[in-house]
Amino acid sequence: MQLPCLLISLATAFLTLRPAGAATAVQPNVTATSKELTNSGSCCATLDYFLPEKVHYNSLTDLSYQTSILSYWSQQEQSLNPICIVIPTSSEDVSTAVFILDIAYKMSMSGCSFAIKSAGHTPQAGAANIEGGITIDLASLNQVIISSDQSIASIGPGNRWANVYTPLDALNLSMVGGRVSDVGVGGLMTGGGVSFFSGRYGFACDNVFNFEVVLASGAIVDANATSNPTLYRALKGGSNNLGVVTRFDVRLFQQGSFWGGTLTQAITEKQDVIDFISNFDHSATYDPYAALITNFVWDAGITLILSDVEYTKPTPYPPTFAPLFALPAVANTMRIAPLTSFTDEIALSSDSTTSEKSDLFTTMTFINSAIFMSELWDLVDATVTSLSNVTGLLFTLTFQPLPYVIYSKSAATGGNVLGLDRFTDDFVNALAVVSWALPTDDATVYAAVQQLFDTAAAKAKSMGVWNEFVYLNYAAPWQKPITGYGQANKNFLQNVSKSYDPDSLFQKAVPGGFKLATS
Ligand SMILES: Cc1cc2nc3c(=O)[nH]c(=O)nc-3n(C[C@H](O)[C@H](O)[C@H](O)COP(=O)(O)OP(=O)(O)OC[C@H]3O[C@@H](n4cnc5c(N)ncnc54)[C@H](O)[C@@H]3O)c2cc1C
Ligand SMILES: *[C@@H]1O[C@H](CO)[C@@H](O)[C@H](O)[C@H]1NC(C)=O
Ligand SMILES: *[C@@H]1O[C@H](CO)[C@@H](O)[C@H](O)[C@H]1NC(C)=O
Ligand SMILES: *[C@@H]1O[C@H](CO)[C@@H](O)[C@H](O)[C@H]1NC(C)=O
Ligand SMILES: *[C@@H]1O[C@H](CO)[C@@H](O)[C@H](O)[C@H]1NC(C)=O
Ligand SMILES: *[C@@H]1O[C@H](CO)[C@@H](O)[C@H](O)[C@H]1NC(C)=O
Repeated sequence: MQLPCLLISLATAFLTLRPAGAATAVQPNVTATSKELTNSGSCCATLDYFLPEKVHYNSLTDLSYQTSILSYWSQQEQSLNPICIVIPTSSEDVSTAVFILDIAYKMSMSGCSFAIKSAGHTPQAGAANIEGGITIDLASLNQVIISSDQSIASIGPGNRWANVYTPLDALNLSMVGGRVSDVGVGGLMTGGGVSFFSGRYGFACDNVFNFEVVLASGAIVDANATSNPTLYRALKGGSNNLGVVTRFDVRLFQQGSFWGGTLTQAITEKQDVIDFISNFDHSATYDPYAALITNFVWDAGITLILSDVEYTKPTPYPPTFAPLFALPAVANTMRIAPLTSFTDEIALSSDSTTSEKSDLFTTMTFINSAIFMSELWDLVDATVTSLSNVTGLLFTLTFQPLPYVIYSKSAATGGNVLGLDRFTDDFVNALAVVSWALPTDDATVYAAVQQLFDTAAAKAKSMGVWNEFVYLNYAAPWQKPITGYGQANKNFLQNVSKSYDPDSLFQKAVPGGFKLATS
């Protein structure tokens, strides 16, 4: 194996000088080294030299490569072929990898663009994987460390929520995180994060005390209210635009088992269920212990309503849900149970495990309106009919209340970049989750769903209920969630990017996900 010698000596110098865990700024001499590196360099070989056993290739004998690829949720992400996959086991490993990739980027070496993956649950191709580049798979950064006073958990980005909640449940503790067992920590936390506990504590990102993050320079820094405070705010919604988060220190609170489950109703109850959601989504009366996800499901000619209803106290049938339970139901699984019981239940019903199918998420935000919810249901119904030739089509339209009392909680912990602090309305988040069997239908489904949401946006605008917020964690590849944060937040993110990543490594060499300039 021919090694890129200058790259190795630069990296050696960096690794020798780097004080453990502290901020470091190493400036390689780009002019002097670029020519030689371009001729001799291979990023995967260099990474392999510095991170032995942690770089994996697509060969029948390397199970780690195959396991990593198969762990993506969607077929679109699984179908990409990185040249190599780096599986770091420490923040220092991530720092080494980013440092090498940053030099390679400055040398304009080819095949050295990279992707950052936590659990790989974002459906669109390239968000957390890359064709012909390098994927950094953070799956082994899956520590869950609970402070001795039980006030803080330090969790690795590569965790899936079940792995975080199992030890917390055992101690009657919890945190503001995802609602589905298989979903990952890294993407959800850096994109916002909607939780069963959001009524009490806001978004998941608003409950992070400290982010440990690897910057473009390879430096490992803390971002919190007192250290790198602009980076701290930027990471609350900034996704993969500023660095690789290697640890989240999050707020813990006491939490025992609580009441919840899935309520199944016939589509004949549609109007009454929509009226219920609309009445429920009012800040003045919102019960902070209540959480609701209502899914309208079209599955092989059958339409159903499945509501995930949770109340984070051990109180069965609280009054806030009474009108919903007064409606006729097909079945319900209501019970008092620990958090993981509910995240497992939704994982099973939402097909959250990987399989060979294509997936698409698309979202919009609107001011609470029962009339618009009905209109949107009709638009989806027509779209599903027009897609009747698509094999294995499963279409879910989900409504989730997003009242002012939830999103305004972020101010108390220093704010985020989602931009919702500009508003005072009670919103509804609409999410379309679409899956189908054959990649040959991808273009047809994408076109139909994009048209559906364009029509829906026009309708919402004409009714005066449209809002520009596009929840990044639910956004389709063509949507622009960073723009939806508002111009001031977009400028702020660009400023923070300029100061922490002056050469735009994470904008240019990490092409996946939603970039600051283009989305
Ligand atoms: C079945 C299902 C259920 C879901 N439930 C919820 C829910 O309850 N609440 C909610 O808010 N969202 C939910 N989501 C959406 C979810 O938040 C996103 O899909 C999220 O991106 C998943 O995180 P991940 O780590 O698996 O993502 P990945 O696909 O690994 O990454 C997503 C993006 O984040 C970036 N990224 C990941 N880790 C890091 C890191 N450590 N540092 C910097 N950038 C990083 C990646 O580069 C990528 O662009 C759900 C999604 C699915 C498919
Ligand atoms: C970088 O290398 C170039 C070319 O060898 C040289 O002219 C320049 O002085 C070097 N810069 C530094 C800061 O060492
Ligand atoms: C958790 O709470 C339950 C119910 O109150 C109690 O029985 C159990 O002992 C508690 N466990 C711990 C570790 O505190
Ligand atoms: C913030 O970062 C500084 C510097 O690393 C650290 O000493 C401090 O403990 C951090 N604060 C929190 C809340 O983690
Ligand atoms: C489905 O395919 C058949 C056969 O190609 C065609 O006649 C029909 O119009 C298609 N239906 C839709 C809704 O596209
Ligand atoms: C961005 O940086 C410029 C120059 O430092 C500053 O004038 C401006 O106020 C900043 N904007 C935001 C939104 O932070």
